[in-house]
Amino acid sequence: MPMVRTWNPNSEGKFCCFYIYQGQSCNTGLPVSVTIIIWALAVILFLLALHHNFLSLSSLLRNDVSDSGIVGLQPIDFTANFHQHPVNERQEEIPVVIAASEDRLGGTIAAINSIHQNTRSNVIFYIVTFNRTADHLRSWLNSGSLKSIRYKIVNFDTKLLEGKVKEDPDQGESMKPLTFARFYLPILVPSAKKAIYMDDDVIVQGDILALYNTPLKPGHAAAFSEDCDSASTKVMIRGAGNQYNYIGYLDYKKERIRKLSMKASTCSFNPGVFVANLTEWKRQNVTNQLEKWMKLNVEEGLYSRTLAGSITTPPLLIVFYQQHSTIDPMWNVRHLGSSAGKRYSPQFVKAAKLLHWNGHFKPWGRAASYADVWEKWYIPDPTGKFSLIRRHMDTSNIK
Ligand SMILES: *[C@@H]1O[C@H](CO)[C@@H](O)[C@H](O)[C@H]1NC(C)=O
Ligand SMILES: *[C@@H]1O[C@H](CO)[C@@H](O)[C@H](O)[C@H]1NC(C)=O
Ligand SMILES: *[C@@H]1O[C@H](CO)[C@@H](O)[C@H](O)[C@H]1NC(C)=O
Repeated sequence: MPMVRTWNPNSEGKFCCFYIYQGQSCNTGLPVSVTIIIWALAVILFLLALHHNFLSLSSLLRNDVSDSGIVGLQPIDFTANFHQHPVNERQEEIPVVIAASEDRLGGTIAAINSIHQNTRSNVIFYIVTFNRTADHLRSWLNSGSLKSIRYKIVNFDTKLLEGKVKEDPDQGESMKPLTFARFYLPILVPSAKKAIYMDDDVIVQGDILALYNTPLKPGHAAAFSEDCDSASTKVMIRGAGNQYNYIGYLDYKKERIRKLSMKASTCSFNPGVFVANLTEWKRQNVTNQLEKWMKLNVEEGLYSRTLAGSITTPPLLIVFYQQHSTIDPMWNVRHLGSSAGKRYSPQFVKAAKLLHWNGHFKPWGRAASYADVWEKWYIPDPTGKFSLIRRHMDTSNIK
């Protein structure tokens, strides 16, 4: 599908003015001296318009695509701004989708900062959040070293999930609608052919371009890191049950699951970091398929009940069964949050391209492994609403 090129209406407007003025001066039939004056004025106006245009261009460079505000989960056309970014004209855009929930905003900020600092590529962040968080997020992004990033804030409308998620107090994740944002990638990034999705509890230490260049096999809409890969098997997921194969996520006692004939021992994958071919995603109606399984789960309870685990992973496991490519395991070194202890050597952590604190022990919380590595990328909240919970702060509370 060819990229639609739209022009910034403002700059077009300015140049329109000039051309209309010139047209009038040509048709007046006035004496030569008057015509010269009119021409001189025209040249001045032209220079002014040019100057103005440069001004708006430089302010664009400063503000990027940041302030067009929240637009629901609908196709948003802002390619006009993008094409005026001279530095990036020759570089491919790398869309990175990340969610931002109010209570973990520091995670989103650190993840974005780590991506930004470790690449020279033309990254555009699509930050999915709720209206009530947008102002807080914006003031944080406009502070310090994040000023130069290019981003778009997209509002997530929870109406999208009506009838697709059961309000179940036993399943904590159902209360976190933003975890489903990844199901809607082509709607969030309508103009892109390829995109990266990333959870908010990660730090990127490699160049995001390498992840973006992950080859996807023909017919595959996404590439994930498998749970039996070498990096993960080294540290067999203590405390995470058997959530490394399909039976750990899906209820194989259910007729509907059995009818899919998916091998129960199939290695599962982690949907916290993935690369998507959006052309293929749309062609296969992946979003529709995921929604279908969400609805069926509400009606029939298809996900495993033995673990109060993920409700975002099972539909992805079904839809992408034997239909996905893989990413380099070093690009999703995970389980750093599944205990407070250190499960990897410092050398391994240093070599990782992406560190993922999935689990209960978040690096902004009281106890987490390698929180110091994470904190290198953290930027303090200028509004003061978010602060790190650190062990040394509450020693007085320990009895
Ligand atoms: C979020 O903000 C947008 C733009 O300001 C508005 O159109 C939309 O209705 C808001 N959504 C909610 C749920 O408040
Ligand atoms: C994405 O999928 C489309 C449709 O199958 C295919 O033509 C294209 O080559 C794929 N792009 C990448 C980068 O894999
Ligand atoms: C995808 O959905 C559209 C509209 O809902 C439908 O026309 C089309 O047949 C579907 N394609 C596939 C491959 O399911």
